[in-house]
Amino acid sequence: MTVAAFQPLTLTIDVHLDAADLRAALARDVRSGLGGAPKSLPPTWFYDEEGSKLFEEITRLPEYYPTRAERVLLERHAGDVASLTRSDTLVELGAGACEKTRVLLDALSAVGTLRRYVPFDVSADFLEASATALTRQYEGLGVHAVVGDFHRHLGKIPGGGGRLIAFLGGTIGNLVPSQRRRFFSELRAIMAPSDHLLLGSDLVKDVGTILAAYDDPKGVTGRFNRNVLQVIDRELDADFVLEHFAHVVRWDPLEQWIEMRLRSDRDQVVHVGALGLTVPFGKGEELLTEISAKFTPPGIRSELARAGFVLDRQWGADPGDFLLTLAHPASRR
Ligand code: SAH
Ligand code: AVI
Repeated sequence: MTVAAFQPLTLTIDVHLDAADLRAALARDVRSGLGGAPKSLPPTWFYDEEGSKLFEEITRLPEYYPTRAERVLLERHAGDVASLTRSDTLVELGAGACEKTRVLLDALSAVGTLRRYVPFDVSADFLEASATALTRQYEGLGVHAVVGDFHRHLGKIPGGGGRLIAFLGGTIGNLVPSQRRRFFSELRAIMAPSDHLLLGSDLVKDVGTILAAYDDPKGVTGRFNRNVLQVIDRELDADFVLEHFAHVVRWDPLEQWIEMRLRSDRDQVVHVGALGLTVPFGKGEELLTEISAKFTPPGIRSELARAGFVLDRQWGADPGDFLLTLAHPASRR
């Protein structure tokens, strides 16, 4: 459903998830995630307006290296991406503040192919603000924002032309392996022969560096982690007391991922009013709120190959830092 065209032919916003859909999806996830053992919640629910702002603050922390490392790579290689793909549309999944996007937009402008930008995100208000700011900055660029869930609405991405579909920031690492397999194969299925995928993924590196990035001394990541409880309090009339949950970060060496958890500091019972749900937490019990997987270049290549992608190029900054991968759908050339 197209709900708004603020400046005709310039900014369009398609909403595939309105407030009621979002609340229903949150209710489902809360019921299954807090009803089971061990308790868990999907990371998508961090990103209300406050959570999106906290994530922005995280990206500026000295300990949080991924955003800076990816920006360096984009600044070095966006020109190669633009000349290899010559895309007229930049689609960005989980676009957030559309910050690093500008590097790609400038590179596609420089090769003279850019016409349209399609930021796609679950966080409607934040997306609208970011997309509006971008429209003002890039006069004449068609901005077609899409509010949706990349687990459900990839098929709603506007088609046509040659699309560069960017999935940056290492957000792919927030999906568990079975979700990643499904995501890559659904993405492959909606891609035309002339489309490309640009994937940003964080790499395995020394554990101390990774842990520090998720446990900053200013406590911003802790506030981001606890924000999911605030979202549930507000949207589903729950009574989580944020101070009763500690931010916990752990590296899983077998899975090669970071786990963010919230640990109950006491025996307590939480009520989720809108669902008529009573959730007991034992002292020390943990709720898993996010995984953030770290990859290797061959690992990414094989996940993409399995989903039907052919590698164009991979660019890494310093060994073990961050990785950009450009690929296209198999069976076309
Ligand atoms: N790409 C940006 C932002 C990364 S933060 C960067 O690199 O800095 C992750 C973004 O993904 C957030 O903006 C969040 O709202 C969005 N997101 C999380 N889960 C999503 C989902 N299931 N569908 C669509 N967007 C999602
Ligand atoms: C969005 N995503 C890639 C971030 C990450 O690093 O996994 C989210 C985040 N969680 C804690 N800090 C940042």
